[in-house]
Amino acid sequence: MIIVLVGPPGSGKGTQAKVLCGRLGVPHLSTGDMLRAAKKAGTLKQEYVDIMTKGGLLPDEAVIGLIDDRIKEDDCKAGFMLDGFPRTVPQAEGLASMLKEAGRSLDKVLQLDVPRDMLEERLVNRRTDKSTGQIYHLIYNPPPQDAELVHRDDDKPEAVGRRLDAYASMTAALLPYYEERGLLARIEGVGTPQEVTGRIAAALEIES
Ligand code: AP5
Ligand code: MG
Repeated sequence: MIIVLVGPPGSGKGTQAKVLCGRLGVPHLSTGDMLRAAKKAGTLKQEYVDIMTKGGLLPDEAVIGLIDDRIKEDDCKAGFMLDGFPRTVPQAEGLASMLKEAGRSLDKVLQLDVPRDMLEERLVNRRTDKSTGQIYHLIYNPPPQDAELVHRDDDKPEAVGRRLDAYASMTAALLPYYEERGLLARIEGVGTPQEVTGRIAAALEIES
């Protein structure tokens, strides 16, 4: 199964992908996680680090290359779940040509829908475990006492606003692109994470 998760910052893409990939036995490919890992390793261009910290989008070619390399790896043979890629029509076209070249195709694009006023609150209270990558929320899903937590640089209020604006301008074209191709399923992203997983499972016709 090849699935794309689309949704604004804080809509629960990472939270849902971790659960669903475990169930489906496919890897979770998050361009945001890959870029943060490259930043930590010191291999991400300073220009790109600055764009991410401010909450802007990287140039299409930077992320298309990352995904093109990653999906050729063995663990992607049975499928994969993309989180945060594609975000623009050129990225969607890039993905389509990578898949076509490999004789594969996209099964579904899941759009997680959450109102903007709830997103800021989710992001400000998000913490991630440094070693496991587990995502927590200080109120709804509190971390254990021994977790080593990180608060993302781009979860500061000014960067959050820019990220939400970047998403709004990006989706204007990306969602109709997938709707026209009959691939888009809209998922209500409000409710408990378990409720949202149930809605996604129904859309994918898998056991919840
Ligand atoms: P990326 O890491 O993808 O960030 P994002 O899209 O802004 O999304 P987030 O990771 O912030 O949110 P999420 O939807 O995963 O929510 P989560 O599950 O954590 O990208 C970061 C940056 O990298 C971009 O800004 C850009 O610079 C660059 N980049 C990445 N991809 C790119 C691309 N394709 N092109 C160009 N640039 C790119 O949940 C959030 C919080 O909510 C958590 O605290 C969680 O516990 C809580 N929560 C989750 N579900 C629920 C629920 N149902 N109820 C209550 N709380 C919930
Ligand atoms: Mg995420």
